[in-house]
Amino acid sequence: MTSKINIFATGVTGYIGGSVLARLLEHPDAGSFHVTALVRSEEKANKLKALGVNAVVGTHSELGLIKDLASEADVVIAMADADNIKVVHAILQGIKERHTKIGAPSILIHTVHVGVLADNAEGKHKTDIIYDDADPAQLELLPPTQLHRNVDLELLEADKEGYVKVYIIAPSTIYGIASNKLVDEGIQNPHSIQIPALIAASLDRGQGGMVGEGKNLWPNVEIAELADLYIKLLDAINSESFPGHGREGFYFGENGEHSLYEVGKAIAEALVELGKGKSTEPTPFTKEEIDKYFGGSAYLGSNSRCRGNRSRSIGWKPVKTTKDMLASIKPEVEALIKRNYKPQEGKL
Ligand SMILES: NC(=O)c1ccc[n+]([C@@H]2O[C@H](COP(=O)([O-])OP(=O)(O)OC[C@H]3O[C@@H](n4cnc5c(N)ncnc54)[C@H](OP(=O)(O)O)[C@@H]3O)[C@@H](O)[C@H]2O)c1
Repeated sequence: MTSKINIFATGVTGYIGGSVLARLLEHPDAGSFHVTALVRSEEKANKLKALGVNAVVGTHSELGLIKDLASEADVVIAMADADNIKVVHAILQGIKERHTKIGAPSILIHTVHVGVLADNAEGKHKTDIIYDDADPAQLELLPPTQLHRNVDLELLEADKEGYVKVYIIAPSTIYGIASNKLVDEGIQNPHSIQIPALIAASLDRGQGGMVGEGKNLWPNVEIAELADLYIKLLDAINSESFPGHGREGFYFGENGEHSLYEVGKAIAEALVELGKGKSTEPTPFTKEEIDKYFGGSAYLGSNSRCRGNRSRSIGWKPVKTTKDMLASIKPEVEALIKRNYKPQEGKL
């Protein structure tokens, strides 16, 4: 038992976390992992226990519990909420306590978002600024006021102190309906956030939409391939090949990029084909629609361009491209219509 690697994971009933946990459970070394997961639903906790996961029922409000669970883990994988700084503090506190006891640093893999790179283009133009995860000096130029950046900065500071090795995975627009054992068992949310939000808004207005002219660019990554990135990183850490951490520990999840127009167009076409849309050309969301569907934020009209060179340096080899992302849209629209999926303001 003592040689097992204790992994504490959050967000495992979610789109990212479930996809990663499913991969951990079928990992060739699964027998050497002892996975503890914090989940809100008792029913899902019981299903996870049946799969061999030590599921603990609790929420992000239970900071003492989170601290204790982090203090018992060799590896913490945070996949629930990029921005909950109180949870980050509780995890770091638990890790620090463990360090005081055993004198060795723990591993923290934290999920953020390439939204940290976002500008305020409002769909009017693209940018030529492309961030490289293998270029820490460039990333250090990001102002502390950028979205999610407050969390990054605290994590980087903790890594510098030496009691934790911090690895930050920043996925881009994740796409595709997750398909794995946890989805089959009704444990995991199979849908992403950004494209479903655009689809839900478009269904509601009966027309594919975009922010401004949709000229802004974002990268994309397929969900199973993103889960691979977490596994490749964990494997690299466990094999002691010393992947970069701290300021050298950003791992972007991307393989290709798209303009918002392209996504709006694919949604508009799918809606027309399914008898739910007026035209195959996306139209700009009005101010009222941006208020109604996206809480007044033009975030979807931002640019966020990056290259995952560090991610690829640890052997991550995504093959799905923007063409696959665009092809995923019609099945996503069909699935969301079946689920009667409504705009969920505040989720972006
Ligand atoms: N999807 C994307 O394209 C994308 C891209 C980059 C980064 N991200 C970021 O990654 C994170 C996870 O995204 P996701 O797409 O996996 O979202 P998701 O499917 O909504 O999953 C969120 C997970 O967090 C759990 N959670 C939420 N609030 C909680 C609370 N108060 N206490 C305990 N657990 C809580 C949820 O539990 P329940 O099942 O109980 O709700 C679920 O397991 C978010 O911060 C998101 O911004 C997402």
